[in-house]
Amino acid sequence: MDVHRWMVLAGLFLSLTGCGAAAGQGEGRAEVLFADNCGPCHGVGGEGNPSIAAPAIAGLPEWYVLAQLTKFRDGIRGAHADDTEGLRMRPMARTLLPEDVAPISAYVAALTPVAPDHVVSGDADAGKALYATCAACHGVDGKGNQALNAPPIATMDDWYLRSQLGKFRSGVRGANPKDVTGLQMRPMAMTLKDDKAVSDVVAHIATLSGGH
Ligand code: HEC
Ligand code: HEC
Repeated sequence: MDVHRWMVLAGLFLSLTGCGAAAGQGEGRAEVLFADNCGPCHGVGGEGNPSIAAPAIAGLPEWYVLAQLTKFRDGIRGAHADDTEGLRMRPMARTLLPEDVAPISAYVAALTPVAPDHVVSGDADAGKALYATCAACHGVDGKGNQALNAPPIATMDDWYLRSQLGKFRSGVRGANPKDVTGLQMRPMAMTLKDDKAVSDVVAHIATLSGGH
């Protein structure tokens, strides 16, 4: 069994043993919870692991992490039968006690961001024209806009961006009637007419200065 598969199983094991409840109290609890329940897939520094499709999450804004963890917990994200990676993440979010969701979100936000992976090839010039639509919410620099619930995207791994745009387009993400912000994003992804358009816009996002 390869090491990544082992880590996935380790994560599942933690969920079954309810490790979240045993992490102690007070200062340092979020750190221990993160290392035990999130680190097996996202890395202890939140740097991500492409071989299991776990994105880098270090430094994502607290409000966005909180919103996504809540969606995973409530089955608004990661519950679609075709959402292989979301189905991997959802039980992990559910291992958290309700009172741990906010501190874990703050902990993720405080982690030092890592440089995103750039592995997707696309035509960044063609993508620039397509990105005009996106800039209205995510900003010209891809830094996001909390007032519009639009997360930063320039800091995300490009393979993850491509995968999420595919999910929004097919309705694997953002089609649940309770997913208010996903329902805003989905028609925007559908302005990208094919896989080439997705790769092109992602190639443009990879050039933006909202990254680090
Ligand atoms: C078993 C592996 C695994 C574990 C353990 C895990 N995750 Fe994930 N996580 C994933 C995968 C895979 C995705 C990508 C889901 C997708 O493609 O939609 C993800 C996605 C996320 C996202 C969404 C990022 C975004 O930009 O929208 C957040 C936030 C997140 N995880 C936080 C956590 C936290 C916090 C923990 C610990 C409580 C955790 N994860 C534990 C695998 C895991
Ligand atoms: C009307 C505002 C709006 C526009 C325009 C928009 N988005 Fe979004 N986008 C959002 C919101 C809101 C979310 C958060 C969805 C959620 O909460 O799950 C989001 C989420 C995303 C995500 C998921 C990020 C993650 O970390 O999982 C990606 C990728 C993305 N948008 C890319 C784009 C691209 C590319 C375009 C242009 C084709 C675009 N967006 C246009 C509002 C917008």
